[in-house]
Amino acid sequence: MYQFLTLLVVLLAANAHAYKVGVGSADMTGPAAQVNFMGYAVPNQIGRGIHMRLHARAYVVVDDDDSRIAFVSIDGGMGSDLLNLKVLNKLSEALGDDSIYSYDNLAISGTHTHSGPAGFLQYVLYQFTSLGYVEETMDAFVEGISTAILEAHNNVQEGVSISYATGNKLLDSNINRSPSSYLLNPEAERALYEDEGDTDKNMLMLKFTGSDGEDVAMLNWFAVHGTCMNNTNKLISGDNKGLASYLFEREINGADVLPGKGKFVAAFASTNLGDVSPNTQGPICHSGPNEGQPCDFTSSTCKDDKGKDKNEACYSLGPGTNGNMVESTKIIATNQFNHAMEIYKNQAVNKVEGKVGYRHTFLDMRNRDVVLEDGSIGKTCPASLGYSFAAGTTDGPGMFDFTQGTNSSSPFWNVVSGFISKPTEEEIACQSPKPILLNTGDVEKPYEWDPATVPISVFQIGQFFILNVPGELTTMAGRRMRAHITKVLEDGGVVDPVVTIAGLTNTYTHYITTFEEYQAQRYEAASTLYGPHTLGAYMQEMERIVKDLLSGDESSTDSQPEDLTEAQISFVPPVIVDFVGIGSKFGDVKDDVEKSYGADEVVSASFHGANPRNNQRLEDTFLSIEKKGEGGEWVVKYVDGDWCTKFMWEGGVGHAGQSTASVEWDLSEAKEAGLEEGDYRICYFGTRKHATGNFEEFTGCSSEFAVEL
Ligand SMILES: *[C@@H]1O[C@H](CO)[C@@H](O)[C@H](O)[C@H]1NC(C)=O
Ligand SMILES: *[C@@H]1O[C@H](CO)[C@@H](O)[C@H](O)[C@H]1NC(C)=O
Repeated sequence: MYQFLTLLVVLLAANAHAYKVGVGSADMTGPAAQVNFMGYAVPNQIGRGIHMRLHARAYVVVDDDDSRIAFVSIDGGMGSDLLNLKVLNKLSEALGDDSIYSYDNLAISGTHTHSGPAGFLQYVLYQFTSLGYVEETMDAFVEGISTAILEAHNNVQEGVSISYATGNKLLDSNINRSPSSYLLNPEAERALYEDEGDTDKNMLMLKFTGSDGEDVAMLNWFAVHGTCMNNTNKLISGDNKGLASYLFEREINGADVLPGKGKFVAAFASTNLGDVSPNTQGPICHSGPNEGQPCDFTSSTCKDDKGKDKNEACYSLGPGTNGNMVESTKIIATNQFNHAMEIYKNQAVNKVEGKVGYRHTFLDMRNRDVVLEDGSIGKTCPASLGYSFAAGTTDGPGMFDFTQGTNSSSPFWNVVSGFISKPTEEEIACQSPKPILLNTGDVEKPYEWDPATVPISVFQIGQFFILNVPGELTTMAGRRMRAHITKVLEDGGVVDPVVTIAGLTNTYTHYITTFEEYQAQRYEAASTLYGPHTLGAYMQEMERIVKDLLSGDESSTDSQPEDLTEAQISFVPPVIVDFVGIGSKFGDVKDDVEKSYGADEVVSASFHGANPRNNQRLEDTFLSIEKKGEGGEWVVKYVDGDWCTKFMWEGGVGHAGQSTASVEWDLSEAKEAGLEEGDYRICYFGTRKHATGNFEEFTGCSSEFAVEL
């Protein structure tokens, strides 16, 4: 009887605040070669293979009244309004006209990896270095994201309890890269965050547990840029967030489950990371008379040999040995993974209770009134970028090499550069003190340069609120937004609300600093598109829709951004044809493996290859590491999405259609992923393009080799 009662109590407790939840994960890697990476906007940072595959991780949460939200964290640079449009179309195709997903209840948030393919935003500004729009990237992202959402939609299960944890600080994993700007914020406001300093250290977590107590999913937010891999990296990677997800999912799903194939989904989502760097060694001069010393504090410059202040020599390295970026990625990822696992197991016990809701609005940001604290009216301005935007940050040199001017080597830049307009007196005054470098808001040729209308939204799961914002809020901008909305919620009767910011969501507008930080015009401020009151506008409008959510009123909205698909220009050349040298076949081994390898060695093999763009192999792989079973059969142990493998491709221009595919398998990394002794082989899977335009699949495998630990 007693046991029965206990059981009853447990069941009641479990069901009292249960939600219907579905989760899904899908591959969205995109073109593995010949496409520029999104983030640093360095023209020659062009993909040449895969270190890790990119995934979309979707969470569908539904309450008893069938009110639902879909939150998706993607291993991608950022959100994109065109991406949402195309994903929604895809969902309608799959679910019929009355698809229950819309702009209102869908949020797609980028982790901000700087090592994924570019070309999935519809605005000129984000397409310079990718030579325009890249349909191959867009198609893969749409496919991966909609697949993840549909998987979540179809897997919705009853009786999932959601719990949260907040206040768990992760140290030694982020630094502020514009600390001099942070110091401009009011002393009293900074004092509120004395225990954390100039970056947020809290990892905020949602934990999803099934009705039988089983692990369903984890979702967390911790502020740090996806810039461990620097702008010399050419292999697709989810950077620190992608690796942290990989490690967490592997731990729960088991090392024998291939990456992205397990049931349990763990996203490390982005938040107010605007001024937050993972390169924890801090900015140092890497050449010149002050080599080895810290850079100038306010300008992040170093003297060159002629005594001039230059930004190129000043950058930060991560915690890896001698700044090794792969090692740094692993350290920052592992820090987040370990911290998250500890929270997941022990701290995420506060129950989320109450309804699921949302409000969404589009904001025309060109000329909005913002009521300031003293009651006067400020205005937002048509978008523009200031001079220090071109200087870049201490995580990597300049975003765009504008000094090249119109005679630059970029055909895309040559086409569009003539369209830049001169700002009016009014615009100059509105953006002041930002000196305008690019007056992007007034140019619509060949099509819009950056978004004029942007989405913001709020998602509610009980007392947990997700603020979806279309850019990178700095640390204090995020704190100010969270504090303000928390107050609005408390005033509206919500008890102990928990508020998080989902950064880089649904479109991209660069940075959002506080008004005070804006005055210093460092990189983040120069990249705050709509002027000094940008943050004020977002806080005001977020307050409006949060109040609508609480009162049950609909939110008014400006009209949605245009679909510019038809206008897009692209200069990414197509794959013409693949050739192989006389006497060889596609997939033939070029450099074979050794006979045997010991524990810490790297196994490598190369093959006569073909362009990986011919078939992206979504949800599949370009390589397999296969182990010989008892009966002589080959069992796939690792694939190209694994951290212990690298797929590299060399070909294209100057190679006359011939190419080489190489595979590396790092045994010391594999040891952490369940490596067993035995006989192995490496296989490569490719697709060649014939001169006729037809495609043909092929496979090649290395000789067998022994792994002895
Ligand atoms: C990128 O990282 C590598 C080490 O992995 C380092 O040699 C190089 O200097 C770094 N470059 C920049 C611009 O940070
Ligand atoms: C671009 O052209 C101008 C004049 O046409 C010339 O003075 C300048 O050196 C050129 N710049 C480069 C980088 O070629």
